[in-house]
Amino acid sequence: MPAHHPAPAEPAHQAAEPSANQAAEQPANQPANQPADQLLDQAAARLGAAGVPSPRVDAEILAAHVLGVPRGRLAAMAVAGSAVTAEQAEKLTDLVAERADRVPLQHLTGLAPFRHLELRVGPGVFIPRPETEQVAQVALDQLALMAAQRPASWRPRVIDLGTGSGALAAAIAAEHPSAEVHAVELSAQAVAWAELNLVPLGVALHQRDLREVPEEWESSFDLVVSNPPYIPAGMVPREEEVRVHDPELALYGGGADGLTMPHAVIAAAKRLLVPGGWFILEHAESQASVLAEHCRADESLTQVSTHQDLTGRDRATSAVTGAAADAGPVAEQDPALGVEEWRA
Ligand SMILES: C[S@@+](CC[C@H](N)C(=O)[O-])C[C@H]1O[C@@H](n2cnc3c(N)ncnc32)[C@H](O)[C@@H]1O
Repeated sequence: MPAHHPAPAEPAHQAAEPSANQAAEQPANQPANQPADQLLDQAAARLGAAGVPSPRVDAEILAAHVLGVPRGRLAAMAVAGSAVTAEQAEKLTDLVAERADRVPLQHLTGLAPFRHLELRVGPGVFIPRPETEQVAQVALDQLALMAAQRPASWRPRVIDLGTGSGALAAAIAAEHPSAEVHAVELSAQAVAWAELNLVPLGVALHQRDLREVPEEWESSFDLVVSNPPYIPAGMVPREEEVRVHDPELALYGGGADGLTMPHAVIAAAKRLLVPGGWFILEHAESQASVLAEHCRADESLTQVSTHQDLTGRDRATSAVTGAAADAGPVAEQDPALGVEEWRA
């Protein structure tokens, strides 16, 4: 973990859960306990006034984090009129103040949910987004299809380019345990967080530039996944959480169209994949058609597909390396996933 960045806070101890009445029984020289529901209302009001988009949810997540209880338990405590200690109330007030300053919620809890996982995150690493969970789903579907065509002993080699916290690599390692998963990341700060998430899952993490493919990796992977940087130069993210707290290396793709890194990922994938190998990369909606055209114009690629996120936006492109006859099976359109196959 980067030396100047504090480790994420450990979950607080179990809440003492005194009743609200106990607040009145505190000795005069000790700060009083506070009713949980009042504290939550105050926290939500403060976050709402600061313009935080989902103030009540954030207040509940922070309170649950401070108390070391699941959110459902917190709700029960609030309804039952339970109180929290003065120390817990003070800790929550401090975290709410930081959140009101638009420090990302995930930096305050030290955790980011991603599919079935809770990833360790903090300053210096990109916070995984819900749309990337969809990219993982499409990749996992593709892996399942490929596996169905191969002997049971098949152990697919998968690589995640620009892994950040390790989100895509971790999801694939956890949900397709027979895969041998590798992850590449350039930033030393991000690698420190990725290590926490990937080592326990047996993922091989490589601190290196995704644009430089070692000779021994050429034509050796079955599947490449990537959510590379893709924001065009000169564009500024609207949300302060992103603008101030996500690392620049994770955001800007290079060039006026932001496509330098997405193109680099496609170039790397072509070298990394076996014939019939499959890659997917995430991108902005506005970049979908140009990336599909780019892949379609490449004679070494086939079965170019655009994939949509849960809100119906074109947010990922996949393709198969090698001639169509060599290609492995490709995930068919699934209406639930909004997968849209490109046709020539
Ligand atoms: C948009 S973030 C995505 C992180 C992660 N895949 C996710 O979805 O949460 C892009 C990541 O690519 C990394 N990156 C940028 N340029 C790179 C390069 N040349 N080689 C390797 N990684 C790079 C960034 O540091 C960042 O972690």
